[in-house]
Amino acid sequence: MTRHSSQGGDVPGYVREASRNPFVLKISMLAALGGLLFGYDTGVISGALLYIKDDLDAGSLAQSWIVAGLLAGAVVGALAGGRLADLISRRWTLLIAGIIYVAGALAAALAQTSGQLVTARVVLGLAVGAASAVVPLYIAEHTPPRIRGGTVSYNQLMITIGILVAYLVNFALRNVDGGWRWMLGLGATPGVVLVFSMLFVPYSPRWLMQRGRRAEARRVLARTRRGEDVDAELDEIESVVAQEHRTGFRDLLRPGLRPMLVVGIGLAVIQQVVGVNTVVYFSPTILTYTGLEASDAIAQALTVGITNVVFTVVAVLLLDRVGRRTLLIIGTAGLTVALALLAAFFGLGWQDSAPWVALVALLVYIAAFAIGLGPVFWLMISEIFPLAVRGRAIAVCSLFNWAANFLVSYYFLQLIDAIGRASTFWLYAGLSVLGIVFFIAKVPETRNRTLEEIERDLAPSTARPATPHKPRPA
Ligand code: GLC
Repeated sequence: MTRHSSQGGDVPGYVREASRNPFVLKISMLAALGGLLFGYDTGVISGALLYIKDDLDAGSLAQSWIVAGLLAGAVVGALAGGRLADLISRRWTLLIAGIIYVAGALAAALAQTSGQLVTARVVLGLAVGAASAVVPLYIAEHTPPRIRGGTVSYNQLMITIGILVAYLVNFALRNVDGGWRWMLGLGATPGVVLVFSMLFVPYSPRWLMQRGRRAEARRVLARTRRGEDVDAELDEIESVVAQEHRTGFRDLLRPGLRPMLVVGIGLAVIQQVVGVNTVVYFSPTILTYTGLEASDAIAQALTVGITNVVFTVVAVLLLDRVGRRTLLIIGTAGLTVALALLAAFFGLGWQDSAPWVALVALLVYIAAFAIGLGPVFWLMISEIFPLAVRGRAIAVCSLFNWAANFLVSYYFLQLIDAIGRASTFWLYAGLSVLGIVFFIAKVPETRNRTLEEIERDLAPSTARPATPHKPRPA
């Protein structure tokens, strides 16, 4: 297949190519609202908690669960969302996630007890987890290969914007009576927009082909392709679908799929064990360790949120040019250096002599995460799995990501108490080095290839029936 053989392209090339395709941009951005909900709700809670604990009289266990309930719900939501995406379509799954999300945000805002709030956070988590698995999948299946790295990463961009908006809302409402209810309730707004948006976007052409709805798939594909041979692409999808056989979660363990599953789960776990969410959720806390007042620490933490957004934009522009693998390796090397710097900062007691080093290290860390590991995990899991198992495989990888997120965030403060600040950051740095070794050894490049080309290269055996293929009688 030579249709997509052009070589990636430069940054202006990406912008030109993307702007020639306003329909793809529109549906990608609407679906990426799911990422906004993800970012907002994971980012808003650290600030809101300061008020909730007094208002609802929440002890430290209740507080941990108010934060982590969402992550626990997301583990289940990711699994259910991936399955539903195959059964009832990516689009309806996102619509349902939006409805659950709005209900969860309102319930959280109105909670009268910490038990009610934990329940609402678990419900929110179901929606956030489902959206996290399905948004990248939905966007990837619509987008032409040359710009897929960028458009799928709108999801990560929206996650970072959601986190930043949450920081800003926390900051703006910090002196308002009952402000935490607004902080949590405001999340319902983008949820409502997501629900309405999903009424007007098309089904994914790949999902339609799986249902044998070729005419509809052709109509959708024709709107998202400019100058490419739509019928050739449909034929390619059709041949992949024709060779599929019924699969369940257990099929993910078949020998042909295992290497890809190892890559997906490896990326999922490494993305979290480098400690990103201890930075996202606890950067004000980390900054207070340097001797800053809480209010100054909260203000400085805003710069972490802004840097995260800015460097995710850089990633959107570079992923289709430089490639996923290169950015992954360079970015993770950068964040390892930042972690070593943070460890040295606390280990060598630079708090008095050079307090600014901590903020610089946090900024380098989040910038390096944002150009590599942040977007690349969510992008690659939408690319590396065969269509037959795509929804389920993505669900399993997201599940591992949320579970690792839960464990790292839940135990961060306890880890600091147990082994100290310097050792905690050395531990993350060591895990990042292992991550780099894993990327070099295992992670393939997927830039500028159709999902079907990737499928043929990476998992050729899964595109064939489990039993040897017999020619059909004429
Ligand atoms: C990625 C991670 C998420 C993290 C975010 C920070 O999306 O999956 O856990 O909060 O990046 O930008």
